[in-house]
Amino acid sequence: MIYITRRETFAAAHRLFKDGLSDEENLKLFGKCSSPNWHGHNYTLEVVVAGEVNPATGFVLDLKELKEIIRENVISKVDHKNLNIDTDFMKGLNPTSENIVIAIWKQLEDKIPAGKLYSIKLYETENNYFEYRGE
Ligand code: NI
Repeated sequence: MIYITRRETFAAAHRLFKDGLSDEENLKLFGKCSSPNWHGHNYTLEVVVAGEVNPATGFVLDLKELKEIIRENVISKVDHKNLNIDTDFMKGLNPTSENIVIAIWKQLEDKIPAGKLYSIKLYETENNYFEYRGE
């Protein structure tokens, strides 16, 4: 089994909050990420696909194709967007990195043309990352 990784980056705005709580209560729960007038992060996304080498090509899958699938289904919907408002696959979700990484998995899991989606990692900062493997 070979594990191949494609890395992409995107910049997005968000606000973490729960409806019905005051700004002060949201600040207590979510910290600076609940700032009422939005703020941004520079996210790094790593998509790992696991599969066997196709003897006809020597590839698990064509990384150019994987890049295009990620860009079409994820990056175009999040880069320079507001995750609370603009991103269809985040509708109704509080855009924590946990919720984002699960939503990105759902966006991609059926669209991988060869091998299987193995892991999605989302770096919110250099020091914090969130990984989902579908369960
Ligand atoms: Ni934030």
